[in-house]
Amino acid sequence: MGTKRQFRVWRGDDTGGKLESYQVEVNEGEVVLDIIHRLQATQAPDLAVRWNCKAGKCGSCSMEINGKPRLGCMTRMSTFTETEVVTVTPVRAFPVIRDLVTDVSYNYQKARELPAFAPPVGVAPGEYRMQQVDVERSQEFRKCIECFLCQNVCHVVRDHEENKPAFSGPRFFIRAAELDMHPLDARDDRKEQAQKAQGIGYCNITKCCTEVCPEHIKITDNAIIPMKERVVDRKFDPIVRLGRKIFRRDQLDDPANWPAEEIPAMSGASVPGGREAAEAGVQAAPEQAWHHQARLPQAAPVGPDGHLPVSEIALDRPAASSPYGDDVTFPLPPENLNYRHE
Ligand code: SF4
Ligand code: SF4
Ligand code: FES
Repeated sequence: MGTKRQFRVWRGDDTGGKLESYQVEVNEGEVVLDIIHRLQATQAPDLAVRWNCKAGKCGSCSMEINGKPRLGCMTRMSTFTETEVVTVTPVRAFPVIRDLVTDVSYNYQKARELPAFAPPVGVAPGEYRMQQVDVERSQEFRKCIECFLCQNVCHVVRDHEENKPAFSGPRFFIRAAELDMHPLDARDDRKEQAQKAQGIGYCNITKCCTEVCPEHIKITDNAIIPMKERVVDRKFDPIVRLGRKIFRRDQLDDPANWPAEEIPAMSGASVPGGREAAEAGVQAAPEQAWHHQARLPQAAPVGPDGHLPVSEIALDRPAASSPYGDDVTFPLPPENLNYRHE
């Protein structure tokens, strides 16, 4: 038999609400989500809470516990003293639907605005090859469980609803960084998008997002700061600035118009004669000098609202073919299955 402990839980909806007090039994080894479930089972059957895995992997049970953004299923009751009142409220940066459930569609909207992974033309799925070091660099960002606690705690949107249209937030900065660091991503405008469409300039590196991330992703140090540095590199690169002075934007897209000195400066390896020849000033024609042609910076293809058109997220070629063949419909007929349960 456990002990009775004091809880306060926010109850209400989008029209308003208040903290309600409850006394709930707590047993050894339980987490806050266990208590919320017991509360539902015994005293408040209409209490709304979102959860799924109860293992810290689905990112559904984000809430604020004693004012701190946390996962309910990963917050042990043993972190509080016996007499401490535990206050549970919904995450604050998103509109409340009911009780502890909020409308997080802002995040899905921002996800849609980020262009998808764009493999190089001519490399089919199954032919992707990467160095292990590149795999490891983006692996950290792939741990994200989309709990949106980092989005919730970011001061740029937490108390400033008006910033939401222009600011994607830390979860999507790590996605942009992951793609920008991906050796097979052929888009070269991730930095411009981070600046113009995602609003990375609003971030002033307070590191609050890193502090709350349950996956311990170093959001600021490993994603935001490198992306900011790349934006600045691109914007203030003297050769790029010279190119901007000489050419109009539409001319910058045409490799034939690139300034000659830029070619060895950006890559010597593919110049005939190798790096030494490049350093000695031997220049190749732009179309011979690159495996994946690097273009000079262009403005992100954003619409008048500052966001990418939804069509940008669609890959311009089909994904990997289905192991069943591409001309089948589901469910498969039983004779086409390798095994079945009779
Ligand atoms: S470091 Fe930047 S993105 Fe992260 S919480 Fe602070 S302002 Fe927001
Ligand atoms: S980066 Fe961390 S805090 Fe942000 S959504 Fe992903 S797992 Fe959650
Ligand atoms: S219920 Fe899945 S992370 Fe908490």
